[in-house]
Amino acid sequence: MSGYTLEVENLTVAFRTELGEVRPVEGLTFAVKPGETLCIVGESGSGKTVAALSLLRLLGKNGGIRAGSVRLNGEELTRKSETEMRSIRGRDIAMIFQEPMVSLNPVFTIGHQLTEAIRLHTDRRGKAAKAHAVEMLRRVGIPRPEAVYGEYPHTLSGGMRQRAMIAMAVACEPRLLIADEPTTALDVTVQAQILELMKRLAAGSGTSIVLITHDLGVVAEMADQVAVMYAGQIVETADVYSLFENPLHPYTRGLMRSLPAFGSEREGRLSAIPGAVPPLSRLPRGCRFHPRCPMAESICESEEPELQPAEVSRRVRCWAASGEIRRFAGRQGG
Ligand SMILES: Nc1ncnc2c1ncn2[C@@H]1O[C@H](COP(=O)(O)OP(=O)(O)OP(=O)(O)O)[C@@H](O)[C@H]1O
Ligand SMILES: [Mg+2]
Repeated sequence: MSGYTLEVENLTVAFRTELGEVRPVEGLTFAVKPGETLCIVGESGSGKTVAALSLLRLLGKNGGIRAGSVRLNGEELTRKSETEMRSIRGRDIAMIFQEPMVSLNPVFTIGHQLTEAIRLHTDRRGKAAKAHAVEMLRRVGIPRPEAVYGEYPHTLSGGMRQRAMIAMAVACEPRLLIADEPTTALDVTVQAQILELMKRLAAGSGTSIVLITHDLGVVAEMADQVAVMYAGQIVETADVYSLFENPLHPYTRGLMRSLPAFGSEREGRLSAIPGAVPPLSRLPRGCRFHPRCPMAESICESEEPELQPAEVSRRVRCWAASGEIRRFAGRQGG
């Protein structure tokens, strides 16, 4: 056993489009330990959702995993049959989306959907399944859980629906919970409560979390490890303390500058870096970030940097940053 819940190695996703093949995710590598939270952060269009969906092999007809490996507790998922994947989804890996109405069926009561999931993925049946469903609703902080059990999704507030979604996701004690912007649609107070809830549930059951967000405030609150994505690639990975204390990649530094000072009113949106993520059909040569990079040198325009080890247990994809690290290490040595 590797000691990791999830190990992703060199994962590349391709979609067929009218403009030819595009690769919204390329060469993704990261790993998550039991009970740990990895946050994937990056601007809109950087490939976060596609990355999440590819872990579950939910890429639709025109998409697929082109290369790489996804292992859950050491088991390779990229070679599983669709039938095997269906039983893994929900039981071993659960997913929470930004908008719970996508995953909650409007024509069934909350209790019905929750009990179905429990029956499908655990050996609880009948009264035991119902009791567990009510207990889960109570545990996610839904008041009057017995009454809510019989209610339809549309009668609940956004925050309560997201709690019901979390109840559904964690009811089967998955080994991995993937949450794609789970709180973006909610107001700040509710957002904090939901994140706190996810953290507590994961800590209690050893569930690993992959949490996708735009928001560095959420990263600071939730992450053990962070992967920063830009234009389909990871540009930097680090533990959360190192990342905030000393961001190495110019893109990560840009994101940090877009963070509001503590106590200010402005939202922590990633909008301060001039320019935009390039379209997949027109990725620049060399480093994908170089047209927006304040540190770009001539090599950055022609050659693509690899994700290089930098310091202990960190990696960065940047010519300038890895050059700086080498120069620093050279000074230390001599
Ligand atoms: N089914 C598809 N076919 C072709 N291209 C796709 C498909 N799904 C996503 N893409 C493209 O992949 C890229 C990454 O999209 P993705 O939704 O993963 O970004 P994201 O980082 O989740 O953005 P956001 O923060 O806005 O949610 C985008 O350029 C998108 O247009
Ligand atoms: Mg997305």
